[in-house]
Amino acid sequence: MKTQISILVGTMTGTAQLCAQEVELALGDDDTQVETVLMDGLDASVFSKKSIFLICTSTYGQGDVPDNARAFYEHLKSARPNLSHVRYGVFGLGDRTYAETFNFGGKRFDELLTELGAERIGERHMHDASSGILPEETALEWSQEWLRKVKERLAQPA
Ligand SMILES: Cc1cc2nc3c(=O)[nH]c(=O)nc-3n(C[C@H](O)[C@H](O)[C@H](O)COP(=O)(O)O)c2cc1C
Repeated sequence: MKTQISILVGTMTGTAQLCAQEVELALGDDDTQVETVLMDGLDASVFSKKSIFLICTSTYGQGDVPDNARAFYEHLKSARPNLSHVRYGVFGLGDRTYAETFNFGGKRFDELLTELGAERIGERHMHDASSGILPEETALEWSQEWLRKVKERLAQPA
């Protein structure tokens, strides 16, 4: 059976979406089906898909999730669905210049999903825009390693 990956994108100026598109191209093959979904208008029902989720989000304001992710994040926070069937990874984007809130967008989703019972696969990636490293290149490399961990996890008992 194909591994299904759904990349949920929170973005303000499109960088996270660009990363998601790179990941989709890099990971999609005969064994793995990948879709990219912007977080606009999402609610908890997205987690009823038989998919592994990759949260790909930047950070704005004072460590907030981007505007297109806010309603989804707040909905999960107040509705508190049981996500114990969900497995996910986090590719976060931020900028270390914002030292106090570096990569808080990804961190907020990570903490909330864990609180709701979901299981993270792999470490949360924290891209730093001030590093000069292109996020879409890192996303490509990071996601290949992440997919390897996903497949390893799926081979284990639930
Ligand atoms: C107004 C503004 C506020 C930001 N606030 C933060 C922040 O609090 N923490 C952080 O790590 N990055 C912060 N960033 C950096 C962005 O998250 C980073 O540039 C990211 O790559 C943008 O991705 P996007 O185009 O997908 O939104 C901020 C950027 C801007 C322009």
